[in-house]
Amino acid sequence: MSNTYWLDGEYIKKEQSNISALTHTLHYGLGAFEGVRCYCSDEGEVNIFRLQDHTNRLLESVKILGLEVSYSFDELVEVQKQVTKKSNLKNAYLRPIVFLGSDRLGLDIVGMDVHVMVVCQEWPSYFGKDAIEKGIDVMVSSYTRAHPNSLMTKSKICGGYVNGILAHDQAKKNGYQEAILMDTTGFVAEGSGQNIFLVKDGVLLTPELTCCLNGITRKTVMQIAKDNDIEIKERLITRDELYTADEIFLCGTAVEIAPVKSVDKTSIGKGTRGEVTNLIQSTYFDCVKGKIEKYNSWLSRV
Ligand SMILES: Cc1ncc(COP(=O)(O)O)c(C=O)c1O
Repeated sequence: MSNTYWLDGEYIKKEQSNISALTHTLHYGLGAFEGVRCYCSDEGEVNIFRLQDHTNRLLESVKILGLEVSYSFDELVEVQKQVTKKSNLKNAYLRPIVFLGSDRLGLDIVGMDVHVMVVCQEWPSYFGKDAIEKGIDVMVSSYTRAHPNSLMTKSKICGGYVNGILAHDQAKKNGYQEAILMDTTGFVAEGSGQNIFLVKDGVLLTPELTCCLNGITRKTVMQIAKDNDIEIKERLITRDELYTADEIFLCGTAVEIAPVKSVDKTSIGKGTRGEVTNLIQSTYFDCVKGKIEKYNSWLSRV
């Protein structure tokens, strides 16, 4: 288990990462984070996947929130590599987070201290190994994804995750593994912490970016699909299209590519991982492990 964190310019031991009880972000949720994974190649090299893209999105999230961090893009990239290196982990999950300090409580954040922390830890398969092959059962949530004017979807805002956690928890309590949230107009948005793709008649469908996070795995999936001559359409998707899809999968850094075998107990396609999902999933795993030369520019050596 990793023991070295980075907090505001210092490498510290996990035990030293005590945060004040008055930490503003703890109380109000205004902060932003990223989820990044590194993978070990067959040759034993550790590479962080799309580190630049994640760092860029972190800085964009921070900008959207009107905050400023005192570290440059290059410094943040380097710190994430160093924390990974010091963790001695080969396959791991990195969590850079920007949060407000404990200057004061209240909703006036002007001039408050902005902190940055990077943590690296193990996080094996999100839904379990079986799910990668056999798929997961999901439900359409009664919780709605927040309107972009409530919680801006281009930003991975800490507090925004309350919405996803409630949906995920509801799904678990009802015997499902994951939830799919609709947007405020009733169209399919995304999973609690994943983007969604449907396959219908050989075409890959995914919601436009108005109601969901601009996922880095989503972008990766779209590039893989393009390189395999699979047509992609970004458009409004209705709930009933979920039930009649040939294939569905969720994707994200944490869950990687997770096939969906049923929605609201309606079997999707043959109720197993479909052909297109299989192709995208296996290519994705080869790509993150550095097995596909043309995608190696997405890897940052630790
Ligand atoms: C709400 C939400 N949508 C989508 C994603 C997938 O994004 P990414 O592929 O960049 O991890 C995530 C994960 O971070 C998420 O939290």
